Amino acid sequence: MAPPGGAGHRLPEDVGKRAPESAVPVLPTCRERKPVGGATSRRGINRKRWPPSLRTMVEAADLLVRTLGECRIDSPLPGLLDRHGTTEHYVDEADRVLFDDTLAMVGERTGKPPSFEPGGPRRQIFFDPAKIRVGIVTCGGLCPGLNDVIRGLVLELTSHYGVSRIVGFRNGYRGLVARHGHDILELTPAGVQHINEHGGTILGTSRGNQDPVEIVDCLDHLGVNILFVIGGDGSMRGAQRIAQEITTRERRIAVVGVPKTIDNDIPWIGHSFGFQTAFGKATESIRAAHIEATAQPGGVGLVRLMGRQSGFIACYAALANNDADYVLIPEVPVDLDGFLPHLRRRVRERGHALVVVAEGAGQEYLAADGADASGNRLLGDFGIYLRGRVLSDFATAGQEINLKYIDPSYVIRSVPANPYDSVYCLRLAQAAVHAAMAGRTEMVVGSWRNRFVHVPIPLAVASRNQVDPGGDLWMSVLEATGQPTSFSIPDRAAA
Ligand code: F6P
Repeated sequence: MAPPGGAGHRLPEDVGKRAPESAVPVLPTCRERKPVGGATSRRGINRKRWPPSLRTMVEAADLLVRTLGECRIDSPLPGLLDRHGTTEHYVDEADRVLFDDTLAMVGERTGKPPSFEPGGPRRQIFFDPAKIRVGIVTCGGLCPGLNDVIRGLVLELTSHYGVSRIVGFRNGYRGLVARHGHDILELTPAGVQHINEHGGTILGTSRGNQDPVEIVDCLDHLGVNILFVIGGDGSMRGAQRIAQEITTRERRIAVVGVPKTIDNDIPWIGHSFGFQTAFGKATESIRAAHIEATAQPGGVGLVRLMGRQSGFIACYAALANNDADYVLIPEVPVDLDGFLPHLRRRVRERGHALVVVAEGAGQEYLAADGADASGNRLLGDFGIYLRGRVLSDFATAGQEINLKYIDPSYVIRSVPANPYDSVYCLRLAQAAVHAAMAGRTEMVVGSWRNRFVHVPIPLAVASRNQVDPGGDLWMSVLEATGQPTSFSIPDRAAA
């Protein structure tokens, strides 16, 4: 009989040592949060005043990161560590990064102020680099920089910690389920050379979670001690279930995530890697639509960009060109009775108009049911719908229109990372390796107020990062476009 998790997997070398088994201390994790309500909490904090990503009642205990045990092994990086203390930018491993950053927020706290554990190397580590095997998996949709993260993990593990056994699982979590029969790749510095020059992921990816029991069977069988998961919120929920199964079995296997989302919808990470590359690529479509619109009478450029529930790509891409007249995002309801006459007037007065729409906007006009393999609600195509509505509205009003529709779709996420994102990917990968080597688990690496931090997965998946319609980003968009705060009052004068 094949060993659990073993059938179908082919390893480049013999199965490594089994992960040592002993009790894993379970520290408090995130408590259930109340939905955002605008109510004043029992501690007097008015949640309405917080931006959406913070509208969870975050308390000190929510930011505690689980650890597999005491760090007793001297880190092989002492030379690097010794220089740190002399700079004000360095956060010592024993220090914490404050969650609150305004006097008002601090003043409203009555208990211990919440704070993140800082990222970075520890003087002592949990795992013996010579004895461990590490696994890496990429999950969910593509994102610029995936290969940079894989390469960063491999180089940091090998060059600085001296870990020599690293494997890559194929095609997302499926690669960790033996019955799917995927090969397992051996990852070496030579093997990952130059992969950062290409978009996509050398490991392949897929949507959807797999049975955590089968996944931990596989980790056990292969003797994997650290699993790095590069994925979005659904993948991190999967990582949480894997970590819980590991705890149930009292194994010492670390699960550390590097959050990936071009929609920039995961909180506590400042912005996600690849986001800047993606919206940068999207600006090419916006520029093209603008040139087309300005070149013809009644020119209207309509650009549809990714952004399922968060309109960050649309906002940033529009701001980068600063030519858009309208930006429509999922966070702000669209009222076509007000929008269409407004658009006609804009075209009459200025000769052309440019509309940028995020894919998740205007879903109230479309009937779409079901969910994808990651559990994301399927969306109707509002870009196509809007194009039809705009054309028929202009036709009914007898107004000339030359509409050019551009949907760059996957083009913006399949490109290689730009230099900024490459740097960010590398630094996230370094922080993830430091955390894992120090025995941290069930956490993702994040960036909070420009410092790398450890974020417990329960907190990372408890809320969604969205554009705050009352916040300064949306204010910038309104200022740049000149569009009204709401189209809900029909523009009768324009009709
Ligand atoms: O989740 C990120 C994202 O790029 C969304 O913006 C988009 O809706 C989705 O992925 C599309 O990806 P796929 O076609 O792979 O499901």
